[in-house]
Amino acid sequence: MAKSDIHTHIGHNLPPTVLTIFGATGDLSADYLLPALLHMDSHHLLPKTFKLVCVGRKPFTSKSYLDFILKKSRVIKKLAPAKKAKFLKYLVYHVGDFDRPESFIELAKVLADKEKPKHECHNRLFYFATKPQQFAAITKILQTSGLLMACAAHERKVRVLVEKPFGFNLKSAQSLNQLLLKYFSEDQIYRIDHYAGKETVQNLMVVRFANSLFEPLWNNRFIDHVEISVLEKDGAAGRMGYYDSTGAIKDFLQNHILQMLALIAMDEPYNLTSQFIRDEKLKVLKALETLKEKFASHLIKGQYEGYAKEAADFRKEEGVSGTETYFALKAYINLPRWQGVPFYLRTGKRLSKKLTQISVHFREPVRCLFEGCSANVLTFQIQPDEAVHLQINNKIPGFGIKLHQADWEFGYKMAFKGEIPGAYERLLLDFLEGDQRLFIRSDEIEAAWKFVDSITENPQFKKLPLYKYRGGINGPKEADEFMDKDLKEWWTK
Ligand code: BG6
Repeated sequence: MAKSDIHTHIGHNLPPTVLTIFGATGDLSADYLLPALLHMDSHHLLPKTFKLVCVGRKPFTSKSYLDFILKKSRVIKKLAPAKKAKFLKYLVYHVGDFDRPESFIELAKVLADKEKPKHECHNRLFYFATKPQQFAAITKILQTSGLLMACAAHERKVRVLVEKPFGFNLKSAQSLNQLLLKYFSEDQIYRIDHYAGKETVQNLMVVRFANSLFEPLWNNRFIDHVEISVLEKDGAAGRMGYYDSTGAIKDFLQNHILQMLALIAMDEPYNLTSQFIRDEKLKVLKALETLKEKFASHLIKGQYEGYAKEAADFRKEEGVSGTETYFALKAYINLPRWQGVPFYLRTGKRLSKKLTQISVHFREPVRCLFEGCSANVLTFQIQPDEAVHLQINNKIPGFGIKLHQADWEFGYKMAFKGEIPGAYERLLLDFLEGDQRLFIRSDEIEAAWKFVDSITENPQFKKLPLYKYRGGINGPKEADEFMDKDLKEWWTK
């Protein structure tokens, strides 16, 4: 049994760092960022000299802020007093208000003071965890308040990490890129997609390129189709302010699903530097075929029953919401390797369970000697119960020859001792280290939005029927019929 390397990574080798989080009182901070940082602290993954500056509008002290987070967080169950005391040594809460620019000049002083005692220059890292509407304001404030000016001898560059959603269409993503690139160079900007930080998503490149078994077969000669399914059990209530104006396509296709698709479909990069990895992903994203005249036959939209009421309750007024909480899409990649291979992509809220899977369906043997040959299917179980499965034909013991489709399973829990690092821990650590490989480059984001815009800004999009589905099942029946028409069925049940 191999050991996961979470305990062997030495954060103490990292240079002195001040990490500033804007939006520190929000859900993302409470449910993902602070739990990840606390966990990293207990595994010695934070730099030896480290300060965490949490910026919010609410008037907290550092201690009352941590108490607030511990109460609010749906993830942190309890924190031992010793751990809390240790973490409080790093933590500085700062009241910052975008309507009060002087509060950020005060923040610049706080940061400079952290560097003063030992005259030690710190890496200055900024995490934009606010509402996306505030990203532009934060960027400008960083520039005008002196926050970007580290101590004089400092040669290291400031880094900024920008949360999703990165824009709400191509135009807004382009403007945000332009704004960021006015103040920072591309190697200072970390656009996050937390799916890229999931262990099983990182494993896609390894399985594909570290095994000579798969790559020769990874093309339209041997692969019949690919399915990427993200089933979610939760509904959208609680996030209506964001979700009702976003919908499943912008919320999931633009980032998580297209990122997984790029990793499944890309060519082998020349090496493992962020430039070459991202160049290869970009080629896939740019080669996505727009639906054009196939619009209605390649896309299904759905909405769970009860959603419209949840949306109306949130808005405190009656009204019908046309937002899709489910989509199924047949996409093609216009590259020689993938000619004619459909990629079935879908996600939905309020489905039967939480499950993310990518299944690669190979073609059946051209001629099968035996009765009952089935196509091989390689399934990456992204979450939960992380695993890779291979469906393969075997003989059932006994007289005669009868076939059995066996499942060769490589399960993470069986294979690896110890903990699997969480996506945010991995990405925060990469951010601290200055490793951009798992982050998204400006051209990738824009290529993804271009494809998504070709769907959501097409006048036919609004006219497509919005099929209702009951919560607890896996989407509208029309999505099953959509597969029936291609003589296929969803692999992920
Ligand atoms: C977020 C989406 O980016 O990812 C949510 O906005 C979604 O709608 C979430 O629920 C899913 O993340 P995970 O890691 O729980 O699969």
